[in-house]
Amino acid sequence: MQLKTFAISVLAAAIVAGCATQQPAEEKVAAAPAVKKAPPKVIAGASGALLASTCEGCHGTDGNSNGPATPSIAGMSEDYLVEAMEEFRDGDTRSTIMGRIAKGYTDEEIGLMAGHYAGLTFEKAGQKAHHRTIAKGEDLHNTYCEKCHNDAGSDPSDDSGILSGQWVPYLKYTMADFRSGERDISRKMKKKLDQLLASEGESGLDAVISYYGSQK
Ligand code: HEC
Ligand code: HEC
Repeated sequence: MQLKTFAISVLAAAIVAGCATQQPAEEKVAAAPAVKKAPPKVIAGASGALLASTCEGCHGTDGNSNGPATPSIAGMSEDYLVEAMEEFRDGDTRSTIMGRIAKGYTDEEIGLMAGHYAGLTFEKAGQKAHHRTIAKGEDLHNTYCEKCHNDAGSDPSDDSGILSGQWVPYLKYTMADFRSGERDISRKMKKKLDQLLASEGESGLDAVISYYGSQK
């Protein structure tokens, strides 16, 4: 008993001593300008690709998921991916699973994974739809959505995700979340969406989604 207490206090003393000797060393490192200048791209040996290996079961080995409710994330802009992950992590947006997953990562790790996925190629999952529905969806997209979702929603540089060739069930779920307020929507997108729904109803929105989903 006494021996154990002694052992613990020796250990505690060692820890305190360790801290005491480490502190000045840390201060020295922090003060060195060279360290500040070039932040390493790799944290504790984990690259974006290695970190992303935990995402593969759902989002596919190359960021292209097998659907239908899991979105493909390859080729989206780094900014969009970082923002999506931060919103999941901070509980700012509704999710079935991403909220829990995102909580396991630091800002740096999220940045590395976003960089990794932004560098991959989005594979459009051309899904079947009636040609008349697709044509109607294209018209409506051009009127209400193209302004912010360029090239049928395939341009990552507009930082608003990739819609072209995305999985239809995912698009439907996420549109429902926008409409119920569970996912934040910009005032301008809400205005356009409301206009589309007022003039074309549910079938108008369905047509737009079919148009995106049919792209290949
Ligand atoms: C268990 C399956 C699963 C795993 C593992 C998973 N995801 Fe997801 N991911 C989803 C689903 C489902 C969604 C749709 C949002 C939701 O309901 O959670 C999603 C959405 C996303 C989105 C938003 C896409 C968009 O178009 O807005 C990003 C970004 C994302 N995941 C990144 C990741 C990263 C990075 C990892 C690994 C750290 C990961 N996911 C692991 C299932 C998964
Ligand atoms: C004023 C600009 C703007 C307009 C107009 C707009 N959007 Fe968006 N949209 C955005 C932005 C910005 C995002 C990213 C939101 C986020 O970060 O959560 C987005 C995201 C989305 C997403 C989710 C993408 C994903 O990967 O999860 C869908 C689906 C979508 N918009 C559909 C539409 C449709 C359909 C229309 C036309 C009725 C439309 N948007 C009009 C700006 C716009």
